[in-house]
Amino acid sequence: MQLVHTVTELRAALGEHRDTAFVPTMGNLHSGHISLIDLARKHGSPVVASIFVNPLQFGIGEDFERYPRTLAADCSQLDAAGCDLVFAPDAQEMYSQPQTFHVQPPLADELCGAFRPGHFQGVATVVLKLFNMVQPRYAVFGKKDYQQLFILKGMVRQFNLPIVILEGETSRADDGLALSSRNAYLTKEERAEAPRLFRLLREAAHRIEVGERDFTAVEQAVSDDLRAHGWRVDYVSVRSQVNLLAPKSQESDSVIIAAAHLGRTRLIDNIECCSGSIDLKRQEI
Ligand code: PAF
Repeated sequence: MQLVHTVTELRAALGEHRDTAFVPTMGNLHSGHISLIDLARKHGSPVVASIFVNPLQFGIGEDFERYPRTLAADCSQLDAAGCDLVFAPDAQEMYSQPQTFHVQPPLADELCGAFRPGHFQGVATVVLKLFNMVQPRYAVFGKKDYQQLFILKGMVRQFNLPIVILEGETSRADDGLALSSRNAYLTKEERAEAPRLFRLLREAAHRIEVGERDFTAVEQAVSDDLRAHGWRVDYVSVRSQVNLLAPKSQESDSVIIAAAHLGRTRLIDNIECCSGSIDLKRQEI
């Protein structure tokens, strides 16, 4: 596996490859990321991963400074997973001039965007830059960041980018907690409490799948339970899978998206609900 830090090195290493499968990351990799590399390997070659903690997508007071930088360990994992090339630019390489052109995605101020102003502009801008640098045929993003995935799929469509977006399922710990680099911030007690989020989402999805159409009541029940157990809830929201807006009551495919803080750690998660087809596998967790 090759490690490069500049766009010039990246372009030289990629040469004329036309089937590149690309996995953008911010590093501090866990098995969820590795499952995205596995998905990339099934579709394209070479497999390229980027590691860049993007300052543009962090707000004031967020965890940009404390976000773990673990390049050597990340490279060992990527190498073992069969990644061919790692692009790890520094901020100077990515933003050699002040970034004055920003992508302004629709829905950027909703859900997580309402609590993290500028976040999705920062994500879309860096991903568009990375796409131009790597010029992949395939790009892989996890469904855990549901709104991010939705926004990036829209960006690819609307800017006519010749890239196929592949969606990786959320990887979970045995107790259901979605894997995230930020889980490392949790104390022992918080880690024991953290699976409540997905447990409540599963119960809420079940209610919708068996016919509940009072989405506000479903959202409220999840929020109330989280708050009663010491969480600070940003939002719990039932949305349409199609457009990420409030679903119509007859809509069959919705998604419940949530973000809440446990101590100093902000966790996000989501669950898709398909009315009429209860996902039995999910009930086993
Ligand atoms: O999901 C992430 O890790 C980041 O938002 C991404 C897509 C790598 C952009 O910085």
